[in-house]
Amino acid sequence: MKKLITYIVIIAIFITGGTALTGCYVSSKVANKSGAQLWGENCNRCHNAPGPGEFNNDNWDIIGTHMQIRANLTKTEVDKITEFLKSANN
Ligand code: HEC
Repeated sequence: MKKLITYIVIIAIFITGGTALTGCYVSSKVANKSGAQLWGENCNRCHNAPGPGEFNNDNWDIIGTHMQIRANLTKTEVDKITEFLKSANN
């Protein structure tokens, strides 16, 4: 019985510890991708991907937040994508 409890505790630490270590970590795969690349991979999944210059910078911020939820992207990914989309307006 004691052995079983010990195993459960070890497994619980392993699971929670594992999540704590990797949960907020931006994978190097995503970190290495450019905004243009992330845009190409994500923004045409549900509709034609709107290109840089199609909206102004204020709109891109709102669209970014909206599509972060729709596309289930991370903040880092969306920030990179909106930065790329805004580049045509500068
Ligand atoms: C999971 C599907 C999905 C993905 C992926 C997606 N969109 Fe959308 N998008 C939608 C839907 C659905 C709408 C229509 C508005 C609504 O109902 O939310 C929309 C609407 C839009 C609009 C119209 C304006 C607005 O905010 O409603 C723009 C611009 C847009 N998307 C840009 C993007 C960009 C940029 C990306 C990549 C980051 C993206 N979308 C990825 C589903 C998606």
